[in-house]
Amino acid sequence: MSTLTKLALGLMGKLRPAPSRGGAPEAIELPPPSTEGGLPLMDALRRRRSERAFLPDVLPAQVLSDLLWSAFGVNRPEAGGRTAPSALDAQEIDVYVALPEGTYRFEPRGHRLELVSAADARRVTGYQDFVADAPLDLVYVADHSRMKLVPVAQRTVYSAAAAGAIAQNVYLYCASAGLATVIRGWIDRDAIAQALGLGHDQEVLLSQTVGYPRA
Ligand SMILES: Cc1cc2nc3c(=O)[nH]c(=O)nc-3n(C[C@H](O)[C@H](O)[C@H](O)COP(=O)(O)O)c2cc1C
Repeated sequence: MSTLTKLALGLMGKLRPAPSRGGAPEAIELPPPSTEGGLPLMDALRRRRSERAFLPDVLPAQVLSDLLWSAFGVNRPEAGGRTAPSALDAQEIDVYVALPEGTYRFEPRGHRLELVSAADARRVTGYQDFVADAPLDLVYVADHSRMKLVPVAQRTVYSAAAAGAIAQNVYLYCASAGLATVIRGWIDRDAIAQALGLGHDQEVLLSQTVGYPRA
């Protein structure tokens, strides 16, 4: 679906997910993440960049597991600490995972994906054409109900900063693993909220596409 078509459908409030290819389980148990190795940090920082041309190849389960753990997984199980910071440790960002077979929410404590919708929401996650070609689009959603201790005037900037930290984790993992990625703010937030079935306390912040580079 072209950018122009998406813009037109979005204006009419009719930008919707594609039917799933089928076979979307209620939950996907991810393999334990490989939390050692990878590129040295300075090498990953040298390689970090945005890329916008993706192969359609599906990401192996281990890669998806490592990617989501890097993004916002639990790195200190005793205290429930995470790989990205959040103000007052509110952990208000949910990572939604749009795959060809269905749309899921990452559940970091169980390190699994929980089904949100048995539909392919990739094309809804942004206006740019490539979002539907790539095998994975992430959507960062703030749940304001978890930010009750954060002053109201600070909630938007704090949750945006938290999502930015997660996005950079994904960039660095992708640089290390030879994947392409781009964070995206040019998105139809209403269409995404509808596709994900979000409630009033939830705010769509950003999307991020991941896949193998079409280089
Ligand atoms: C908040 C934010 C929103 C962005 N939105 C988009 C977007 O909608 N589409 C896109 O292709 N790139 C988007 N980008 C990526 C920037 O265009 C990119 O980071 C910039 O051109 C610098 O390139 P680099 O990331 O390779 O250093 C966004 C970046 C940020 C930080």
